[in-house]
Amino acid sequence: MADSAENLTSSHSSPGSTAGTPKAWGGVFQSATDSRVERFSESVSFDRRLADDDIDGSIAHSAMLAACGLMPPADADAIRLALEEIRAEIRAGRFEYTISKEDIHLHIESALTARLGDAGRRLHTARSRNDQVATDLRLFCRRAIDRIDAGLAGLQRAFLGFAERERDLVIPGYTHLRRAQPVLAAHQLLSWCEKLHRDRDRLTDCRRRTNILPLGSGALAGTSLPIDREHVRHALGFEAVAANSLDGASDRDFACELAFVIALCAVHLSQWAEEWIIWSTEEFGFLRLPENFCTGSSIMPQKINPDVLELVRGKSARTIGNLQSLLVLLKGLPTAYNRDLQEDKEPLFDSIDTLEAVLGVAAPLVAGTRFDRERIATTLDRGHLDATSLMEALIAAGTPQRTAHETVGKLVRRAMTKGVSLEELADEEFSADCAGWNGTLRSALGASRAVGRMASFGSTAPARVADQITAWQQRLGAAGGA
Ligand code: ARG
Repeated sequence: MADSAENLTSSHSSPGSTAGTPKAWGGVFQSATDSRVERFSESVSFDRRLADDDIDGSIAHSAMLAACGLMPPADADAIRLALEEIRAEIRAGRFEYTISKEDIHLHIESALTARLGDAGRRLHTARSRNDQVATDLRLFCRRAIDRIDAGLAGLQRAFLGFAERERDLVIPGYTHLRRAQPVLAAHQLLSWCEKLHRDRDRLTDCRRRTNILPLGSGALAGTSLPIDREHVRHALGFEAVAANSLDGASDRDFACELAFVIALCAVHLSQWAEEWIIWSTEEFGFLRLPENFCTGSSIMPQKINPDVLELVRGKSARTIGNLQSLLVLLKGLPTAYNRDLQEDKEPLFDSIDTLEAVLGVAAPLVAGTRFDRERIATTLDRGHLDATSLMEALIAAGTPQRTAHETVGKLVRRAMTKGVSLEELADEEFSADCAGWNGTLRSALGASRAVGRMASFGSTAPARVADQITAWQQRLGAAGGA
């Protein structure tokens, strides 16, 4: 995690004093930067997280410069070795950061030049920090996308494993948080796999547009030097090079897209968390959460709270805010790079970190959760879950839907008045409201029978859900867990 700016070294700390460190861009200036400006405009306190990507980008860039005759090959070799040393220092926490060097890009370049002299001073040939930071951020996002995708696959596997264990369990399905129709628990668990699948699909799509190389766009106009952008594209594994240098250096669509995909995914996980919080209440009693994923109360000794799920729900809020920050950041920008774009990193990093943190606890929580089958079974006949099933049986026997709906409504009212289930009504009572009543219609009654009668593709019938379990086993197994 990045330090705050306060923790960075600063050559002068009194307000307004000028810092003496020469700037990479200092040639034209006659006075040193005000230290308040240095502190205000630095980004190294957070963009140091791009260090690996910056080094990868610089190694590829210098190799290309050598291949194009823009740098002696020996310099490119020396740059590669020195950058690897710098990478090791950064990883070991031995690298010194100072706000006078603004950002991670200038830090690494100046460390390189301190080691190599002129070879280091050649690295920034045909490059601007504008196309450099765009490249680094895309590399960073590409890696994040791949990690998040793997995390989502792991969570899908946890839901699938739970569905496999509970494949025969019937639970009440709800709409408006009122008992509606019976469903298989496995069906509901697999519904999360579907949502997460779409999230992964969106990630894949976003990755395609992230995987475009801006480097070579220069500051905005390209370069007069004979560079080979294909060389760099190939070395860094990008799909294509950005076709317009003005757009290439300033396009942050990929950042917004990733923030959106993350926000929507976090919203899905928030909905899941909400559902399981409700299901695990004493009032519902459907689920037992793993105790090692619950926390207690410092005043009420009996409490075992679903804080992890509450935080999953709560953390989705910041991912939505981050998306909004990014969109608002971009809305007023004129063409090409503007320094505002430096503000893209913190919301994006936060969204990535938040979702990864959520995914880190979600899968083990799912794996450790159990249904309370007995408790569910003892209350399953409440709420007339089989009413729609009976209505459809009447429709199948030739009754118009509106008539069947009204008939079953009357039967439900009769059962409600008596405080019994539909199944518990006598045949005479059925006949009183239902002209064509006959005993075979009873096969539509009862939650389990109602579930068993579902036939449409995608429905909750055991055979359909078994097909879905097989489909998910193949999907999640096939691509090596992808
Ligand atoms: N630190 C900047 C950013 O994150 C990149 C530097 C570009 N600065 C500039 N003055 N052109 O966007």
